[in-house]
Amino acid sequence: MRTLTIRRPDDWHVHFRDGPILAQVVPFTARQFARAIVMPNLVPPVTNAAMAAAYRERIMRALPPGTDFTPLMTCYLTDGTDAADLVRGHRDGIFTAAKLYPAHATTNSGHGVTAIDKIYPILAAMEEREIPLLAHGEFVGADIDVFDRERGFIDRVLLPVLARFPRLRVVMEHLTTAEAVAVVRAHPGRMGGTITPQHLLFNRNAIFEGGLRPHMYCLPVLKREKHRLALRAAATSGEAGFFLGTDSAPHLRHLKEADCGCAGIFSAPVALQAYVKVFAQEGALDRFEAFASLNGPTFYRLPPNEQRVTLVEKAARVAENIAVPNHGDILPLFAGQPVDWSVD
Ligand code: NCD
Ligand code: ZN
Repeated sequence: MRTLTIRRPDDWHVHFRDGPILAQVVPFTARQFARAIVMPNLVPPVTNAAMAAAYRERIMRALPPGTDFTPLMTCYLTDGTDAADLVRGHRDGIFTAAKLYPAHATTNSGHGVTAIDKIYPILAAMEEREIPLLAHGEFVGADIDVFDRERGFIDRVLLPVLARFPRLRVVMEHLTTAEAVAVVRAHPGRMGGTITPQHLLFNRNAIFEGGLRPHMYCLPVLKREKHRLALRAAATSGEAGFFLGTDSAPHLRHLKEADCGCAGIFSAPVALQAYVKVFAQEGALDRFEAFASLNGPTFYRLPPNEQRVTLVEKAARVAENIAVPNHGDILPLFAGQPVDWSVD
């Protein structure tokens, strides 16, 4: 039975939602992680510092008593973002970063940025104040195949932004392709990339295994096997540019098992178990701490956590579902299935 003790990890990309779902999902993340970058794609989105401060309060109230957990807030960028408010919010410790959702790329991105040049003044202010840009890296257009959206974003948005704002630091969120891995590698120090458990464990066949599998649908959508292998090599390399970001994205079951189902996989209850499985399979347990607990803080210029967690190779069964009283339930990744590792 192998065990692995590492500094307590952080989750550099998570969706907590709001209201009754928030209360149910926050404890899962807070149990495993010391800090998390909280996504702002609520309804309405978190577009200014006052909204972010209020949201942070609601998250803190959802924590079980005595939990040591720090939510790191992000500003949802729109065509009309107030640069002064963003800069002030960052200076006051409310915002850690700002998030670019290209309009209509994913869940609740309708208020996102319609054309990148509309936010050039905001990006200039972010570069100046050293506020990281977090990107949902998909370009959406009638001429782009859904499986090519990430490459479209790299060519049409990311590379022009990196060239125009040479000191802006960018995290490309939830990498899904070999091309995205390459672009992170090509910009050491300036770029980071988060990688989800599902993109390390599954390729796009999982969406269609024996029938349509709505709980395996997320955005950016799972890709083909060669991309999964590139992501596994990157995550387990220990290289500073790659770090843990679950993209845990809970949706009520009936909204996923629907005619037009929501994108998102709720991985928070099994996040570390899912990641450590990959590192064990790759014979890279000695590099798990870099990916989970060191590379993220280095990029965000925060100290690594001092506490330790121990992962034990001991089988456990994942819950069938998580109830949201009066609203339904949410299915976690690996619902009802066994996992090989447990968090001590
Ligand atoms: C996320 C969500 O549901 O908010 N969904 C997803 O499939 N990942 C949004 C996002 O990160 O794209
Ligand atoms: Zn996300």
